[in-house]
This record gives sequence, structure tokens and C-alpha cells, in this order.
Amino acid sequence: MIVSVAKETELKENRVALSPDGVRELTTKGFSCIIEKDAGLNSYFTNEAYEAAGARVVPRDEAYSTADIMLRVAPPITDEVKMMKAGSVLLSFMYASTNPELVAALAVKGITSFSVDAIPRISRAQKMDALSSQANLGGYKAVILSANYLGKIFPMLTTAAGTIRPSKVVIMGAGVAGLQAIATAKRLGAVVEVSDIRPETKEQVESLGGKFIELKADDSVKIEGGYVKGASAEFLQMQQELLAKHIAAADIVITTALVPGKKAPVLLTEEMVKSMKFGSVILDMAVKQGGNCAISEFNQTVVKYGVTIIGEPNLPSLLPLNASELYSKNIVAFLLHLADKDKFFYDREEEITKGSMITFNGEVVHPSVNINIEAAATN
Ligand code: NAI
Repeated sequence: MIVSVAKETELKENRVALSPDGVRELTTKGFSCIIEKDAGLNSYFTNEAYEAAGARVVPRDEAYSTADIMLRVAPPITDEVKMMKAGSVLLSFMYASTNPELVAALAVKGITSFSVDAIPRISRAQKMDALSSQANLGGYKAVILSANYLGKIFPMLTTAAGTIRPSKVVIMGAGVAGLQAIATAKRLGAVVEVSDIRPETKEQVESLGGKFIELKADDSVKIEGGYVKGASAEFLQMQQELLAKHIAAADIVITTALVPGKKAPVLLTEEMVKSMKFGSVILDMAVKQGGNCAISEFNQTVVKYGVTIIGEPNLPSLLPLNASELYSKNIVAFLLHLADKDKFFYDREEEITKGSMITFNGEVVHPSVNINIEAAATN
């Protein structure tokens, strides 16, 4: 089968779905690989590197029209789906439950699709877990980017001219991104305080040298399978009150708190931003899901009340080399789980296949997607 990689077209998307090493692995397994010309350049992979790994570099049209399997990072837009071959297979981030036009376009075109963000988080699937590989890099970049906007250094420094006190970084949400942000800020010498509402995070935070801000969850906090499923408005208000003094003393606040499938919880109100020190920095990693900070702006870095608020929605894309390398490893493992060089297995009772398959032969099959194909496709 022909595996194709098109150049990403989403704004500011520097990643590419397959690295030259990924091409090498798939070629060894008997797949043919084609790469749209310059698809890897923003990740610092040249056309020549792909050719040396065994791929054929092709024009854009051919990358779409001849592919049996299309690998992407960001979901394709409807016009790109129209360029794909009927009956082909797509592997990509899709966020299908919030992307009905894409799902409808795929179904109408008879494309079978698997979404990497829907892969169940079971041990067997860890090597395919692109949510984790990308969040990990995002957490690192969140610290580096916000440090760049701060007029201070992180570590304590004793000099003949006097002593500089260490910066204080508050991190909200200690999932994959938050834990990497804690480790990175600690390595740079900051004092790090952390808030999360899953009880098991306390030990993880402390093992990285962070100080856990104790907050007792009430009955409204629902946790299922390691994920927060929701918390009441009253609880969130209590959390805001508890966090207020930590926020007022912070130099940097990095927020990563997400509730899958829902708008992100607001943890930083406008009043809390007003209370922050002149020159401090907020980085809202949840900005794409509505934001943890009430006044962050999507895709903008703004200064409000003397605080720089960074609303960068795609941090992994700012580390494209590592992000593409890891994504490529994830997607190769995913593809080799689903197919061999001749065919897809379509074992629809198997947990990873079942969890990640969004469309199959013209039908929408994922339970999280509830759409009328004809209506969505004609819109
Ligand atoms: P996420 O990106 O969905 O959420 C980030 C963090 O925000 C979570 O730690 C969550 O508890 C926290 N959060 C939600 N509401 C909050 C609030 N009001 N205040 C403070 N924090 C709040 O989470 P992520 O990083 O995707 O991981 C979540 C879970 O998935 C964890 O239990 C993790 O261990 C698990 N996981 C399992 C893997 C596996 O292969 N078994 C791989 C990766 C993660």
C-alpha cells in the first residue's frame, strides 16, 4: 500500500506526520512511501533526507490522489478530503466529536479514518500515544516561552552586587504537560507550586520537587479512568479563592487544566490577573479549549493589567523537530497495529481499533460523534 504524507496546511503548523526514520521503518515493512515536496522543511527534514530514507517526493496533487493511506498531524480541511482517493484511509488528530464537517466529508467520500486523539490510554497503546508525546513537549516549551517574557531569571543567584531571589512559578493541572512543566521550571531553578484536583497528582508533583497546593475535592468533582470529568461552579469558586494568594505572589502562572470533551475550567479570573505583580506572565495552555484564564486570547500574546498573557494554541509545533520525530514514532506504531503492507485488519472488536475508528466505508462509527451526514456535508 502507498503511504502518503502531505504538507500540513493549518496556520502555524510546523510539524509533519512522518520523519525520514519513519519512512525507513515503513519501507522496511514493505509499504511504499510518498511525501509531498517540502512537507518536512518546517521540521528541518529535507526532501533529500526523505529520498535517502526510501520515499518518493511528489507534487501536492499526487500526494493526495494516489495515497492508500494518508498520514497527517492536524485534521485535513474539507477541500483536502475532496482531493483524497475514495476508499483510502486517514490517520490523524481529528477531535471528531467537535469536528462534524470533517467527519461528514470523510464519510461521504468513503474514507475510513482513525483519530490518534481517540486511541484508548491503555498500556498496550502507550507507544502510539501522541496526546502524551506532544503534551510533554508542550509543557517544556510553555516554561521556556514564558521565561522569555519574564524580566527575571529563575534561579537564586548570589553575587557581589547582592542576592537575586528565585522566581516563583505556579502550575495548574499536573497531567502530562503540567508534570513536564514542573520538571523544566525546577531544572531552571524556580520555586514551583502546583494545583490539581486528582489526589494521585500530589505524590507525582512532590517527586519532581514541586509544592502541592492542598485542595480538598468535594462530591461534585467526578474522576473517571484518571480523568477529571467535571467539577461544580461552587467548587471552582472555592478553588479560585484558595489559589488567589499563590497567584498574587507568582512570577509565572502556567495553566494546563483540561476536562476532556468539555470547555476548560476557569481557574484564573480577571480579578486574579489584576492582583498579579506588574511584569508577571501567564501562559494558558488550555486556550484552544476556551482557556483556564478568563482573559487570555486565542493565538495572541497580550499585556493586560501589566501582565503578559500568552495564548499560544500549538506549543508542540514550536519544537517541530522533536515533535515530528515523536509523532512519527507514534503514528508508525499505530499504523503497524492496524495494518500490514497489503491490508488493514479492521478488527473492530479490538480495543485500540474500536476506540479510534471514526468512519468506516462511508459510515460514521464512533459513539462520540452524533451527526446527520447529509445535512453536515451539504452545509
Ligand atoms: P488533561 O490534559 O486531560 O488534563 C490536564 C490536567 O488538568 C489533569 O491532571 C487534570 O486532573 C487537571 N485538571 C482538571 N480540572 C482541574 C482543576 N479544576 N484544577 C486543577 N487541575 C485540573 O490530562 P492528561 O495530561 O492528558 O492526563 C490525564 C490522565 O491520563 C492522567 O491520569 C494520566 O496519568 C493519564 N494518562 C495515562 C496514560 C496511559 O497510557 N495509561 C498516558 C497518559 C496519561
